[in-house]
Amino acid sequence: MDQAEEGASPEPDPGSNARRVSVTPVELRRVLGSLEAVSVLRWLAARRRRRRATRGTDGEPDVVERFTYSKPVDADELRAEISDQRLRALVDCGAAVVIDGWAVALLSLLYLRGVAVAYPSAQRVDGNEVYLGTEGLWLMQLAYQYGAPTGTAADLATGTGLVAVALSARYDRVVAVDLLPEAVRTARLTLDINASDIASTATAVMDVAAGLRDGVFDTVVANPPWVPDAIEDGDEAPTMYAAGGPTGMELPARFIEEAGRLLAPGGTAIILVLDGTWDDGRRPLDEQCDLLRDRGFEIVDVVPAPPSVWGEAEAERLAEHAPNCTTGSVVALVFRRPS
Ligand SMILES: C[S@@+](CC[C@H](N)C(=O)[O-])C[C@H]1O[C@@H](n2cnc3c(N)ncnc32)[C@H](O)[C@@H]1O
Repeated sequence: MDQAEEGASPEPDPGSNARRVSVTPVELRRVLGSLEAVSVLRWLAARRRRRRATRGTDGEPDVVERFTYSKPVDADELRAEISDQRLRALVDCGAAVVIDGWAVALLSLLYLRGVAVAYPSAQRVDGNEVYLGTEGLWLMQLAYQYGAPTGTAADLATGTGLVAVALSARYDRVVAVDLLPEAVRTARLTLDINASDIASTATAVMDVAAGLRDGVFDTVVANPPWVPDAIEDGDEAPTMYAAGGPTGMELPARFIEEAGRLLAPGGTAIILVLDGTWDDGRRPLDEQCDLLRDRGFEIVDVVPAPPSVWGEAEAERLAEHAPNCTTGSVVALVFRRPS
């Protein structure tokens, strides 16, 4: 579970005269509190979508795109493209800074499968970072493949809200929740700037799904933390986005149980987990499937992750740090509450 980004870098453009600037992490609370800044971010996302539609992926990014990737750009050149007022709205709420004639966005816009993600480009490295990885793209695809065609959907452990935006193009109501307040703010902003007219969306801070109503969700998706503690211990301090417990299944097991509770009759849950076999013979995923069957759920599928999510590097890391895990890989557990 490595952080991944597309199209953003805090590094200055190679070959440009830009210099490195130190910035403090953006305060999303202030950005969300500025209607003007949110509207500028929405405008920037729409501008990028329009340019993409007319030019495809060819060509160099222009000054506005480089700015949204958090590259330092000439502030006057940027003003000429987006207006002084728009730049000021971003600066006033701390979403961007202007230093010595250079403008730098502290909130990047990353564009992933048509979704603009408002991502805090400078974050404190303290284990509470907002996570964005490749699993979200896979989960979007799985939601379309296995999810109910309409109705109400929940994205548990939403992170940036990327999957919630994809759900909002299909469902009438979408709830996106996470335990990390900064993730919930990121998701709120991401939902706001992608503005689907179809769905009504809500975001909230909560532990797993505490507070969400039983039996009313047609589709529930989650990419919870599923990394075994041994791997987490091998590196730096445990991170909230990755630490899944001793076998990596302890925290996901709570998501599986809660997802089952949320499902309406006929509803489907899709939960990403690590399918490990341990040297004492335990297979935590099989235990979870047995528990679900005992509760009357149908196991629809167990889908192996594509190499973009679980490749050789991940398998080697597991073997190195968790030798008690004899085999392991990420899968999507898909289960259904009978109608
Ligand atoms: C691997 S990230 C997934 C983020 C996003 N869904 C994605 O796929 O990009 C796991 C997320 O779980 C959240 N999380 C960790 N513990 C949680 C808990 N007990 N309840 C709810 N969310 C939790 C983290 O803050 C993080 O955003």
